[in-house]
Amino acid sequence: MTRSTVFLAVALAAAGAACQAAEPETKFNDKGELARPADYREWVFLTAGLGMTYGPNAPRAGQPAPFSNVFVNPDSYREFMQTGKWPNGTMFILEIRGALENVSINNGGRTQGDIVAVEASVKDTTRFPDGGWAYFGFDDRSGVKPAAAPFPRTATCYSCHSKNAAVEWSFTQFYPLQFEVAKRFGTVRADYDPARKLEQ
Ligand code: HEC
Repeated sequence: MTRSTVFLAVALAAAGAACQAAEPETKFNDKGELARPADYREWVFLTAGLGMTYGPNAPRAGQPAPFSNVFVNPDSYREFMQTGKWPNGTMFILEIRGALENVSINNGGRTQGDIVAVEASVKDTTRFPDGGWAYFGFDDRSGVKPAAAPFPRTATCYSCHSKNAAVEWSFTQFYPLQFEVAKRFGTVRADYDPARKLEQ
């Protein structure tokens, strides 16, 4: 290799790396299905809720309330921390895990067990003009899916999130650091009422 071909090879490798970095973290296939991100466990962790699951993911009678871990894609996290707004392309993952008791040395506490479900929400005002957000389910009792179509607009995800969430349709009121950021930038919804409880 001459010096100039070495230079060219280095330049091409650098360009390749730059293209890779520019690839969106939220990916849809040509059927409009959202790809389940393989690396969401390397995304930004926002919170772990206990007993925050509803509908089919609610605990069965006599079982301890499950954990829910929330992650967001890093690009959107960085933008949110600068603006208080979740940008188009934001993808949240809600990973629900069973709660285990008395594991190893523990007496009476709770630790996280196997995955019960992995769900997602995406903000994309072009793809989802009716509100800007859509909801997806990947791993649940029906199996593991590499990609998922949005739940229909009639699913309860849409009504609960659009009515009760504090920042657009995201439950940012439960993400301690991010809620402070939203308050600072004035992006908490005007109709958010911290005293309102879920209607059973
Ligand atoms: C009755 C209200 C309710 C319903 C119905 C509901 N959710 Fe949620 N969702 C919540 C709450 C509360 C949180 C915050 C969880 C936490 O803090 O642990 C949440 C969080 C989430 C998050 C994390 C991002 C965010 O918006 O804050 C995703 C993703 C999510 N839900 C997906 C779904 C999907 C998919 C469905 C429908 C299959 C659904 N949810 C139905 C109340 C609801």
